[in-house]
Amino acid sequence: MTSRKINSGKAAARHEARLLWTGNRGLYALLSAARQTGPIARVPRLGWVVTDPVLARRVLNDHAHFGMAGEGGVGHLWTQLFGPEMAQFFGGARHAEMRTRARDLFTEDSARTLVERSQGAHYRAMGARLAAGETVDVADATRVLAGRLVANLLGLPGEHHIGDSRTDDSYRRVFAAGERLAGLAMGTTASTHLPPEVIDEARTVVGEITVGVEEAYRTAGPDTIIGRCREMDLGLPLTRGLATLLAIAGTETGASGTSRTVALLHDTGQQELLLADPALMANAVREGLRVATPAPVIGRHVNRDVAVGGRDLRAGDRILLLTYLADNGAGPFDIRREYVPETRQLWFGAGRHLCLGAAVARMQVTRMLETLLATGKPYRIVSRQAARRVLVPTYASLSVKIDRATAG
Ligand code: HEM
Repeated sequence: MTSRKINSGKAAARHEARLLWTGNRGLYALLSAARQTGPIARVPRLGWVVTDPVLARRVLNDHAHFGMAGEGGVGHLWTQLFGPEMAQFFGGARHAEMRTRARDLFTEDSARTLVERSQGAHYRAMGARLAAGETVDVADATRVLAGRLVANLLGLPGEHHIGDSRTDDSYRRVFAAGERLAGLAMGTTASTHLPPEVIDEARTVVGEITVGVEEAYRTAGPDTIIGRCREMDLGLPLTRGLATLLAIAGTETGASGTSRTVALLHDTGQQELLLADPALMANAVREGLRVATPAPVIGRHVNRDVAVGGRDLRAGDRILLLTYLADNGAGPFDIRREYVPETRQLWFGAGRHLCLGAAVARMQVTRMLETLLATGKPYRIVSRQAARRVLVPTYASLSVKIDRATAG
């Protein structure tokens, strides 16, 4: 009986809490403390903290009062690395133009094509290994897959065809460089001003990530981001900045969302439900991303005085939207849960900066779950390890297998 195997979700919650604790103590402490506050509160040293999904969305949609470029916003970090010109990616006409020009690369259809083109062969190989009874490390796979995706989307040399020549290790290096760069932002919850030594280190990592961008700027096809940058005559320095931005935006979050959804489905005993009714796949993906919320905090700068949730915010304040708490308020992982109107898809943000890669991210999680469930039997987590000191909590390893006895 399927229903016997579904559990209360306590094990899943414990594993999730351990990921947050091991990965990012500051984040764990902030989330634990904010559970006790109301929908919006002022926290010494940090600024305003929002835990309510409706208020969070209001802030994200209010571009007149809240911005990304000033202290507290992610754009502030990027302009320190790439110069003030970089601010145009975070608001205003140039940002709107970039999104318009890139839109067709990120539709549902394009996402399907991109994921197949860059990752399809990897999923097939993984499926064959699982069917043969081998153990597969899903967390490692998500890092290789993320590296493949970003290199392909950007159009880095040699990346545009199935069967490309780079080894999995080189994709792991792309991912690790992104992780290191994101890690440098870990100390910025209280202030987004970067000290000079951090800027130096960050520039070294950026050099590694963007090593192929110059050639790509000359050669990449029009169905790649860098090809579009050339069409816009964006110039090499800004293209390098944008490439780095994409490499960061889509890798850690995507990898974390994928491996945590795999774990949540296992830990709650809900694999059987999905196997019995594949039409629940979209729900399973949505629930995994909601509960994991791989971008657990979104920061904004308060540009102008404004009242939110009955509190008066002043120009120059900073505000942290704790999307992790806002999303998890709807309850534990449950693939039978209907769409939640309060959260909508807050794990992808909202407003003008709503995640451009949302369809790509959903597609990746879907393909991973389909790969794991392709034999028609549930998978078992053999061992797991939480990642240490990372911006986005995730699994360092998550080994799964399909038992031979049940693999048919
Ligand atoms: C589960 C995976 C992902 C999650 C949870 C996620 C989450 C987010 C969030 C919350 C934002 C808004 C940030 C803000 O408003 O400050 C964002 C923006 C963005 N994401 Fe994602 N993301 C994911 C995967 C991806 C992927 C795979 C890509 C690219 C292939 C991507 C590309 C972007 C870009 C370009 C932006 C900036 C959009 C803009 O400012 O206009 N993301 N993402």
